[in-house]
Amino acid sequence: MVSSVISLPFVIPNPSTRKYSSLGSASARHFPDYSPKKPTIKDSELVYTISTTIKQRHFEPIERILKPFESRLRSDHFIWVLMGIKNEYTLVLTFFDWFCLHRAPSLEVRCIIIQISVAAKDPKVAYELIHDFWSKPNVDATLPFTLFMEKLIYTYKDWGSNPHVFDIFFQVLVEVGIPDGAKKLFHKMLNYGVVISVNSCNHLLSHLSQNIDTCKTTPRIFTEFLELGVKWNTVSHNIMIHCLCRMKKVKEAHNLLIQMEMRGYFSDAITYSTIINGYCQIGEYNVVLKLMEEMQIKGLKPNKFTFNSVIFLLCKIGKVLDAEKILREMTWQNQNIVPDKVVYTTLIDGFSKTGNVTAAYKLFDEMHRRNILPDYITYTALISGICRIGKISEAYDLFVKMRNREMVVDEYTYSALIDGYCKNGEIKEAFSLHNEMVQMGLTPNVVTYTSLVDGLCKQGEIDTANELLKEMCSKGLELNIHTYNSLVNGLCKFGHITKAIKLMEDMKVAEVHPDTYTYTTLMDAYCKVGDMVKAHELLREMLKKGIQPTVVTFNVLMNGFCMYGMLEDGEKLLTWMLEKGKNGIMPNATTYNLLMKQYCIRNDMHATSEIYKGMLGKGVSPNTNTYDVLIRGHCKARNMKEAWFLYKEMVEKGYDLTVNGYNALIKGFIKRKKYLEAKSMFDEMRKKGLVANREVYNFFMDMNYHEGNLDLTLELCDGMIEKGIVDKTDV
Ligand SMILES: *[C@@H]1O[C@H](CO)[C@@H](O)[C@H](O)[C@H]1NC(C)=O
Ligand SMILES: *[C@@H]1O[C@H](CO)[C@@H](O)[C@H](O)[C@H]1NC(C)=O
Repeated sequence: MVSSVISLPFVIPNPSTRKYSSLGSASARHFPDYSPKKPTIKDSELVYTISTTIKQRHFEPIERILKPFESRLRSDHFIWVLMGIKNEYTLVLTFFDWFCLHRAPSLEVRCIIIQISVAAKDPKVAYELIHDFWSKPNVDATLPFTLFMEKLIYTYKDWGSNPHVFDIFFQVLVEVGIPDGAKKLFHKMLNYGVVISVNSCNHLLSHLSQNIDTCKTTPRIFTEFLELGVKWNTVSHNIMIHCLCRMKKVKEAHNLLIQMEMRGYFSDAITYSTIINGYCQIGEYNVVLKLMEEMQIKGLKPNKFTFNSVIFLLCKIGKVLDAEKILREMTWQNQNIVPDKVVYTTLIDGFSKTGNVTAAYKLFDEMHRRNILPDYITYTALISGICRIGKISEAYDLFVKMRNREMVVDEYTYSALIDGYCKNGEIKEAFSLHNEMVQMGLTPNVVTYTSLVDGLCKQGEIDTANELLKEMCSKGLELNIHTYNSLVNGLCKFGHITKAIKLMEDMKVAEVHPDTYTYTTLMDAYCKVGDMVKAHELLREMLKKGIQPTVVTFNVLMNGFCMYGMLEDGEKLLTWMLEKGKNGIMPNATTYNLLMKQYCIRNDMHATSEIYKGMLGKGVSPNTNTYDVLIRGHCKARNMKEAWFLYKEMVEKGYDLTVNGYNALIKGFIKRKKYLEAKSMFDEMRKKGLVANREVYNFFMDMNYHEGNLDLTLELCDGMIEKGIVDKTDV
C-alpha cells in the first residue's frame, strides 16, 4: 500500500512550493564557477559560424545545415556553441540531439544539458539523461558516481542554478539501486547549503523499505536526515511506520504515529491501516479495535485491506461476532467499500469453526444476494461447519450442489466430509468417499487418514485402522501425532493397553514424540484398571521428558486414586500440584470435587471441610458439582445447618441443585423432623420439574395420608406413576 503511493516512476515536485532550506548559508560553500578552456582563433571561427548558422536557419532541418561541420565538431565546440544559445531551450535540444547522432557526448556535455533542462523547467529530459547514463549495464559504480556528482556541481552555477537537479540525480541513484550513492550525494549537497527535498528522501526510504534487510537501516536514516534539516512529512512517517511494522516493531510504529501528530503532521488512512495491519499480525486485538475507533473519530475511512486484515485476525482468535460487526460497519459507513469473496469466506469459515452454522448460512445467502459468487473454498468452509455440528446429510447435499455446478472439489472438501462421517460413526460412507476421491486423482492427506483411523478406532476396528496406517505409510505419508493418538485412544478404549504401550514405543522409533494427550490417555487406561503404579510411572516419565501435564492429566490420576480408595495418595498428588502450580497447572474444581466426594463417602466431613477450605483459599471457585457433593455429605452427616447454608449460597450464585442434592436435603430435614423445610424443598423441586426419589415420595404420601389430605396423597401417587418411579408390584 505504502510503497505504491510513492514509488511512482518519477515524482515531479511542484517547483513553486518547494523550498530549499539553507543551512547557515554563511558556512555553506559556494558553487564553483564554470571555467572552460579558451578556444583558439580557429576554434572561435568555427563556433561562430555554427552558432550563427543554427540561429538563422533554425527552420531548416539541422542535419542539412550542419552537414559541413559534422566531421570537425568536438565536445568542446559543442559547449562553446551552447554558451551562445543556452537561453533558447528548443534549439539547445535540437542541437544536442544532432550532436548525439554523431558523437557520444562527454560527461560534461551531458551535465550541461541536464542543468539547462532543469532550469527550463523540463525535468523529464534531465531525468532521462541521468537515468540513461546510470542504467547503462557496465557503468563502473564507484568512479563515475563521484565524477558525475562533481561534474553536476561544476556546471551548476553557470548553466542552470536550479537545485532540483540534485533531487533528480538523487532519485535516479535510488531507483537504479545505488542508495549509498544517494546518501553520499545528500551529505555532499549539505556542504553547499542544499538539502535534498523530502520527496526525494521519501524515495530513498521507500526503496529501502522494500527489503526486510534494508528496512532495518531506515530508522537511522530517518533520525539522521531529520537532524540535518529534512522536514519529513506524512508520507515519510507512513513509510517508516510500514518499515517498523514489517520488522514487527509495531509498538514503535505506534509511537511514531503519536510523535508525528505531536509534531503537527496529520496522520491519514494509510498511517492507521498500516499500524492496524501490524497489530493484526501480532494478534493485538484490543489495540486494533481502539485504533479503528480512533480512525472513526478522526473521520478517516479504513480501506478494504484494513477491514480484511482486522476481520481475518478476529476470526483467527475466535471472535467471529466482532468480526461480523466489522463487516457491517464496513458496508454501512463506507458505501465505496464492497466486501469481497475473501472477506465473506473468512467469516463463513470463522463461524463454521465455532459451530455457528446458522450465521455461516446467513452470510452465504447474503453473498448470493449481493452477487458475490462463493467459490469452492467458501463451500468447503461451510461444509466443514455443517459436518462439525453433525448434520452430515445436509453437508453432503451441499457437496452434491458443488459438483452439479462443476465447481472444483479438492482434498479439503473431501476431508471435511470424511471427518464428518467418521465422527458420526458412519465409517462405510466415509470410506466410499475416500475411494471416490482417490478415483478422482485426489490424494488423501494425513488429515483425511487421521479422521478415518479415528473413526475406525472409535468403533473398535483396530485391525482395520492398523491396515490403513500401513497404507498411509506405503504412500509415503508420515503419520503425525494426531494419527497416533487416535490409535492409542482406540486401543485404550477397547482395553488393549499393552498394544497401546507398544504403539507408543513405535512412535518414539518413528520420532513422533508422544505428547501430553498420549500420556494422559495411557494413564487413564491404567487408572481405570487400577494399575496406579504404572499410571504413576508414566507421569514420572513424562515429567522427565519435560512434557507438561495438564489439569486433565492430574484429574485422571486423581480419579484413579479416588476410585481405588487411595485418598492419601490423592491428597499427596494435590499437595504436589499446588507446590508445582506456580509453573502453570493448578487443580480445578473437578480435582477437589473428586477428593471431597470420597471423603464424604467415608463420612469424614472434617477432612472434606479442610479440603473445601483449601480450595477456596487457592481461589478455585466451587461449581454445581462441588455444592452437590458438599450438601449431600453434610446431609448424610446430619449437619443440616451447614447443608442449608451451602444451599443458600449456591442459589445466590445462580447454580441449580441436582436431584440427588434435593433428595439428600429433604431426607436430612425429615430425619431432623424439620418437616416444614422438607416440604418447601419438595415443592420447590416439583416446581422445577425434578423428580424426587421413591423414599421422599413415600414419606410425603404417608404424611398427607395421615393428615387426611387424601387428594394430595392421590396426586402424589399419580405423579409417581407418571414419572415411572414405582415398581410394577406397587400398583
Ligand atoms: C451466531 O451468530 C449470530 C450472528 O450472526 C449471533 O447473533 C448468534 O448469537 C450466534 N449464535 C450462537 C449460538 O453463538
Ligand atoms: C477441570 O478439568 C477437567 C479436566 O479434567 C475439565 O473437564 C473441567 O471442565 C475443568 N473444570 C473446570 C471448572 O474448569
